[in-house]
Amino acid sequence: MIDNPIDQMKAMQKKLTRFLMMYKFALQEVETKIDILQEEFQLLHDYNPIEHTKSRLKTPESIMKKLYRKGGINSLENIKDTIKDIAGIRITCSFISDIYRISDMLQSQKDLTTVAVKDYIKNPKPNGYKSLHLLVEVPVFMSDRVEPVCVEIQIRTIAMDFWASLEHKIFYKCNESVPDELLKDLKLAADTAYELDQKMEQLHREVNQIKLAHHSETNFINELLINNEKFKIPDHLLKLALEEGK
Ligand code: GTP
Ligand code: MG
Repeated sequence: MIDNPIDQMKAMQKKLTRFLMMYKFALQEVETKIDILQEEFQLLHDYNPIEHTKSRLKTPESIMKKLYRKGGINSLENIKDTIKDIAGIRITCSFISDIYRISDMLQSQKDLTTVAVKDYIKNPKPNGYKSLHLLVEVPVFMSDRVEPVCVEIQIRTIAMDFWASLEHKIFYKCNESVPDELLKDLKLAADTAYELDQKMEQLHREVNQIKLAHHSETNFINELLINNEKFKIPDHLLKLALEEGK
């Protein structure tokens, strides 16, 4: 039992910091997973499926706002159960097929549990919003326990992201009462963005076909590139790798 009010405040502050830190660690884990997938994918397929990623932790203030919207709280555990997007990560891809590829690769990892999937690409929101939302749980290894922590992952194309950020700004500026005409135009813009996504995907497939056709001239490479650093492959290691590949 802590009697001194200052000590009490300090203990409470530590408890809250530790609570939010758990989400920071969970984000870092998922970010590392994405970095690995991205780097390995680049090596295997010679292109980068991810344009960029952005992570954010919900601020204590917006956690509280959302809690009140959802009907209040009585414990920290209650926050964990009610607010599933304290840790959020957004992945922007070049092509729609990459969205599903990244989603499958993440979901097939054994230490990651899929809690929910919302596919707003196959089932867009009435306003035109498109994105793939995954709610996953990752185990965070703390000093005294392992805690499963929820992370919301939003995966979308550049065009979908462009649309969503503009729509978000419009709602913010118009205090959520957007004129009907603007709503109609926004929906039209979402449809146009989707057409562009489909066209780009088709072009991407055509480029791949051309690349495949030109792939016959394989040049012999006795170097490795890791972290932008070149390493010469010793002859013996090269021989071993060639033997394995037979
Ligand atoms: P929240 O309570 O807002 O988190 O919604 P939810 O629990 O029903 O989840 P949902 O998957 O629908 O949305 C989660 C997040 O997706 C939001 O916080 C936004 O970041 C994003 N999002 C969902 N719908 C829209 C939309 O219509 N426009 C934009 N710009 N973003 C959206
Ligand atoms: Mg949210």
